[in-house]
Amino acid sequence: MISREIPRTYRVKSFGCQMNVYDGERMGELLAAQGLAPAVEGEEAELVVLNTCHIREKAAEKVYSDIGRLVKAGRKAGREPMIAIAGCVAQAEGEEIMTRAPAVSMVVGPQAYHRLPAMLDRAVRGERATDTDMPAIAKFAALPARGNGRRRIGPAAFLTVQEGCDKFCTYCVVPYTRGAEISRPYRDLMAEAERLVEAGAKEITLLGQNVSAWSGEDAKGRVTGLAGLVRDLARIDGLARIRYTTSHPADMDDDLIAAHGETPKLMPFLHLPVQSGANRVLRAMNRSHTAESYLKLLDRFRAARPDIALSGDFIVGFPGETEAEFAETLALVDAVGYAQAFSFKFSPRPGTPASSMDGQIASEVMDERLQRLQAALNRHQHAFNRASTGKRCEVLVERRGKLAGQWLGKSPWLQSVWFEAQCGPGDLVTVELGEAGPNSLAARVLEMA
Ligand code: SAH
Ligand code: SF4
Ligand code: F3S
Repeated sequence: MISREIPRTYRVKSFGCQMNVYDGERMGELLAAQGLAPAVEGEEAELVVLNTCHIREKAAEKVYSDIGRLVKAGRKAGREPMIAIAGCVAQAEGEEIMTRAPAVSMVVGPQAYHRLPAMLDRAVRGERATDTDMPAIAKFAALPARGNGRRRIGPAAFLTVQEGCDKFCTYCVVPYTRGAEISRPYRDLMAEAERLVEAGAKEITLLGQNVSAWSGEDAKGRVTGLAGLVRDLARIDGLARIRYTTSHPADMDDDLIAAHGETPKLMPFLHLPVQSGANRVLRAMNRSHTAESYLKLLDRFRAARPDIALSGDFIVGFPGETEAEFAETLALVDAVGYAQAFSFKFSPRPGTPASSMDGQIASEVMDERLQRLQAALNRHQHAFNRASTGKRCEVLVERRGKLAGQWLGKSPWLQSVWFEAQCGPGDLVTVELGEAGPNSLAARVLEMA
């Protein structure tokens, strides 16, 4: 065992979903509390955490090549970084990473990263450590409380409220890498949200693999769902906007739909993955909805909040998907008129039922279907943006644009909006939306908040 110098700087590189981004922020906070400083942009860090994603493609292979690159760059610079592998590849591969990649000091799963400081101590003593436990006591309880209001954060913050998944869609690794569904306690979430707002957040996006499955006991001891949490968060002064993602159609209840009509701070946007428009494929995916039940659900959201913008996820080329079934997906896209969406080629994930199903689709066929689907989704996104031209709305300013005096922010419908104004990140400006491109809109400022 060779002991190592204590790293002075760190960098966390997060891949994958927003929950991974949130975990990456929390790991950064843990390392900062240990006295490490974030590496300056453009400089090599002495500790690199690769916070990995396992959802699609050859995620594991990519991790090994990233490790190789880090080692090579480190040798050139005269000091190899200490490397930690976190996230869903760490959970799925575990010890395998230690065996294949001697340069790695720590492997830590998404439910165990609160133990990172102890692992770091061991790594400095030269001991390599793997921790992919999914402890019964959630990591959140063991994590130190977030900032004390002195550390400023960006105007749009993430807050993980729920983790894990019990749905077992036949293509998906998440139930294996993140474990069973758990909800964080109401009290902790209210407290963390307040601290985020004190630190500068104007918008909070509540995160969960199945965020609408969140439930808890409110301050009065009543059992409540996500809608109750949203309503109570909306009472926090200084918090202007609330969003949530990702939902599963099975967990959407009347109360949440109603909240969209009653809570002005809850933004008119819903990301509700559907995956396919063909009921046979949906059954084979173990999705518990049909195309029809999904469309009916969206109608109820539209009745509560007529201007709601809709988003979804799609998989093309699920095993056995016929051209006619794919055409049903295109028909569903036209029926919904999405404001934006994500679409992917089916990727067989090790250990999932779909990876060994008959009728695996050739890659070229998937490519061609994905192109057609994305063309349709882009068309709808552009149409949605064009229909917004002339609307008056608030924009939350996030960052500077490319040109001097230009700023970028998000509309209530999660569109990127750019405009010229004397303002700064975190300001809410009232604009009139102007010319619409496929991915963004220009705007004219009417009022500063
Ligand atoms: N919990 C969320 C999203 C999970 S992963 C939900 O159920 O909606 C995000 C998206 O990745 C999924 O919605 C799905 O469209 C896609 N995805 C997951 N596994 C995949 C796979 N094996 N191949 C291709 N896409 C996949
Ligand atoms: Fe994966 Fe399905 Fe769970 Fe979403 S609901 S995380 S797609 S298993
Ligand atoms: Fe990826 Fe894990 Fe999120 S597999 S999408 S990082 S839950």
